[in-house]
Amino acid sequence: MSKKSEKKVLLSGMQPSGALHLGNYEGALRNWVELQNTGDYEMFNCIVDWHALTSGFDETDKLVPRIYEMAADYIAAGLDPAKTTIFVQSHVKEHAELHLLLSMIVPIPWLERVPSYKDKTESLGLDSYGFLGYPILQTADIIIYRADVVPVGKDQLSHLELAREIVRRFHFLYGEVFPEPEALVTKFQILPGTDGKKMSKSYGNFIALGDGPDEIKKKVMSMFTDETKIHKTDRGHPDKCPVNIYRTIYDPEWTQKIADFCAAGDDSIGCVKCKKNLIRGLVDYFADFRARREELLADPAQIDNYLKDGAERARQRASETMVLVRKAIKMYKPEM
Ligand code: TRP
Ligand code: SF4
Repeated sequence: MSKKSEKKVLLSGMQPSGALHLGNYEGALRNWVELQNTGDYEMFNCIVDWHALTSGFDETDKLVPRIYEMAADYIAAGLDPAKTTIFVQSHVKEHAELHLLLSMIVPIPWLERVPSYKDKTESLGLDSYGFLGYPILQTADIIIYRADVVPVGKDQLSHLELAREIVRRFHFLYGEVFPEPEALVTKFQILPGTDGKKMSKSYGNFIALGDGPDEIKKKVMSMFTDETKIHKTDRGHPDKCPVNIYRTIYDPEWTQKIADFCAAGDDSIGCVKCKKNLIRGLVDYFADFRARREELLADPAQIDNYLKDGAERARQRASETMVLVRKAIKMYKPEM
């Protein structure tokens, strides 16, 4: 087993749901890039296409383009394939083998208790065997790299807690192989959607990282503002206004001044002007990102190379783990 690295191993994953939006960026990707740049971790970043099938098994036409877009977004945002192992889950078959082995030891009630399972079986009518096993596959994703930490949002804490329980059960039955993965919950800014609700692809209230100036303009101009500010001279509540919340991140220079004007009902600035500032801010903020993203998407072979190389590195570590796992379980292995 390679001992080359004393660094903590970090694994993160996202379902390939297509182009990422600002909410995904602020909620995860920005943080991943920062973690990468600390140099403190050996990082694996998995595009979990098998997980996407647990709910999207009937729209597989979109799977491949979504993977390219996600990889381009990651790299354009600053994940560096030379530092972070970026790969597609289904390229590393060891995840599936470990998933199968773990499925033998996980009681069904553990899975039925997971909040996202309960929610989605009811709201989306998902009832497949694979969907029930979603958290087992997620556990396999993590522990196959013997990951120490997993950066997650609060919505994923129950999955991580289950992963830890599964690890303890494995150890109880077969002996110690894995670290118990820890959640790395970092504070981040929760970005509202353009309508003030949670930003989500399914609500259609998002701004994508790759949106160009025209889309940004259209979306920002239609953004909800403080509903009590109807005239310029009305006193607004900038801290509750999505436009102002975005501006604190993407156009910080004038934000305080404009917020003060807004709150005071000073008629030198109204919502339209305020939005125009944000448009300029957003267009500039993501200009380099967009250029890099377009360059990558125009050259899918380049993305293929990054993902192939990532899968190779991932497979290396995953196969080392599987040797330990098969040995611990006492699977048949002919003497050579
Ligand atoms: N369930 C995660 C999500 O919906 C995606 C995921 C799959 C994941 N495997 C993972 C996240 C492993 C972290 C680690 O966001
Ligand atoms: Fe929001 Fe700006 Fe209008 Fe104030 S002036 S309500 S911060 S858009």
